[in-house]
Amino acid sequence: MSSLDWRDAERSDHAELSEWICADPPKKIFDSSIGRSYHPEQWALDVQSEIRDLCPPVGGDDRLVLARDDRGIVGVAYFGFDRGEGEFHMRGLAVAVRARRQGIGKQGLTFALDEILAWRAELQVDGGVFARVHEDNAPSQALLGLAGFEYIGVTNQYHLQIWALDLAIEAGLIIEV
Ligand SMILES: CC(C)(COP(=O)(O)OP(=O)(O)OC[C@H]1O[C@@H](n2cnc3c(N)ncnc32)[C@H](O)[C@@H]1OP(=O)(O)O)[C@@H](O)C(=O)NCCC(=O)NCCS
Repeated sequence: MSSLDWRDAERSDHAELSEWICADPPKKIFDSSIGRSYHPEQWALDVQSEIRDLCPPVGGDDRLVLARDDRGIVGVAYFGFDRGEGEFHMRGLAVAVRARRQGIGKQGLTFALDEILAWRAELQVDGGVFARVHEDNAPSQALLGLAGFEYIGVTNQYHLQIWALDLAIEAGLIIEV
């Protein structure tokens, strides 16, 4: 995949984002054997819902960036700065189901980390970057590991793992795309 143009989401992206699909299947399915609806990758559905609920341009200490190809929005990265903690957070990273495993997730994460690095210098803070990932979300864990994030531990809620990148090391920002 050639390098895509990542930019801040604008008001004109809202309608498309509100229907964007990054979960496979795009909604819960009813399983008659257990008598309820479920999703095999609930974490992807959660990210999809969070992205759909955002109203760009997002303000304050958050950034929502996206990339397009000739079929529409193909990747989204949502990140921000927590002033209370002096840390940055990767709040969401997602690639359209139709475009997985082409390096777009790597591109989005690399773009977000480059932006965070510049932002961190501007704010003159030394906090790292944190991400929360479901314990079953192997693709995201592999991607974070590739970028230099380290597994910190698991929260006691929702089976979420915490991963962190020490920006002082910076080696993780160099991902071959
Ligand atoms: C996680 C996600 C963003 C990866 O996007 P992607 O464009 O498919 O990933 P890339 O092609 O850039 O792959 C980068 C690396 O991630 C890992 N990876 C990606 N998909 C993987 C999979 N299905 N299984 C195992 N590893 C995987 C690999 O290490 C891969 O490197 P490689 O191709 O050199 O082996 C995508 O799977 C996604 O949108 N998931 C749903 C949303 C989500 O769960 N977001 C994370 C929570 S915020």
